[in-house]
Amino acid sequence: MSLRLAAEAEPTPDVSDDEVWLTCIACGAQFAPFEAVRFTCDNCDGLLEVRYADHPTFDDFEGHGVWRYSEALPFDKGVSLPEGATPLHEVPRLREEVGLRALRVKHEGMNPTGSFKDRGMTVGVKVAKRIGVDRLACASTGNTSAALAAYGARGGMETLVLLPEGKVAAGKVAQAALHGARILEVDGNFDDCLDRVQDLAARGEVYLLNSLNPFRLEGQKTIGLEILEECYADYGAFPDRIILPVGNAGNTSALFKAFRELVQAGALRPEEVPKLTGIQAAGAAPMVEAITEGNDEIRRWEEVETRATAIRIGNPVNAPKALPGIRETGGTAVSVNDDEITSAQRALAEEGVGVEPASACSIAGVRKLRKQNIIDADERVVCLTTGHLLKDPDEAYRAGGAPDAVPNDTEGILEHLAGD
Ligand code: F0G
Repeated sequence: MSLRLAAEAEPTPDVSDDEVWLTCIACGAQFAPFEAVRFTCDNCDGLLEVRYADHPTFDDFEGHGVWRYSEALPFDKGVSLPEGATPLHEVPRLREEVGLRALRVKHEGMNPTGSFKDRGMTVGVKVAKRIGVDRLACASTGNTSAALAAYGARGGMETLVLLPEGKVAAGKVAQAALHGARILEVDGNFDDCLDRVQDLAARGEVYLLNSLNPFRLEGQKTIGLEILEECYADYGAFPDRIILPVGNAGNTSALFKAFRELVQAGALRPEEVPKLTGIQAAGAAPMVEAITEGNDEIRRWEEVETRATAIRIGNPVNAPKALPGIRETGGTAVSVNDDEITSAQRALAEEGVGVEPASACSIAGVRKLRKQNIIDADERVVCLTTGHLLKDPDEAYRAGGAPDAVPNDTEGILEHLAGD
């Protein structure tokens, strides 16, 4: 494994007195972090990354949740609800079924709005306040919109969300509505919504809080930091592999960055970096295609379809950050079909862990990769589940059992039960 440590050699630029700056991953241009609204590189439109003069080690972390990791973040505290410190479940029956040395499930559905998006929003909304913008916006398959609406409300800011019409799970739209976001349903898919909101941002109408915004990914790094700390505390070792659902590939990029920074700090050896393994739905799998075919660029899928609507995405904007993450950690990417997703959702539910369909991809993925022997029985694996079961009540209801109609008397109920 060759872990790229390019950022290590980068000199502290003359753009910040804070020891934090933005660097374009394509052309290397550097920018001050908080002085202007900027989502991509002014020169080449490449993706930006937050860079630091110093990186903390595990000893520098204290407190609870996302802000335990403030030394690895651009400031001390964000607009917080609070977020992070999600459970790392054991799933003994699934572990037995797939045959692994260790299998844990990091349930990000236990964040305040029910998905990992909260970890990024606590940072991103604070940056928006610091820069001084007043209208926040995102395109979303649902969870980002719920998180933006809640964190925007908490920060006292106006929020606008663009959703693909008819393709967002009920729980997520309900959250965005109740937290007071203005909801625009676009006649198009998620990628179309992202094109529209980027255009609005370019015209100065809104501050963009999709994962294209490099500050969002800083908060999401803390998933990786928590996993490493918890696994180490649990079994005295870091996990060999982290398996995660992939849509825009923001999490994949964020986890890779978290691990690279730990390596730069001397807190993690390159060979200890977990193999990042991305799972997509078969009907929306451009990252899997790029990994399988060895392409450096993503082919945008115009037609996407999957029951896992959260990851119904054909143009993963963070691919230039995420593809090296998968490759350089020795991971891989595979797709799973909708039936495999629902079966995994049920299997997790049988262990008491309730997740939405996209989240179940990581479990469907570990099953598949174990069968193919791509994952070794000796590995310690963590699967990320990204959103809560209640996000998509229709799918949960469909995957579970329907209620029985019974009369309003005990004898009748007993008769009904005896009839099974
Ligand atoms: N899982 C869930 C539940 C999601 O909501 C998303 C993304 C992902 C996985 C994919 O994560 O983009 O970091 O690879 N949802 C976005 C949204 C697109 O609008 O809520 P990624």
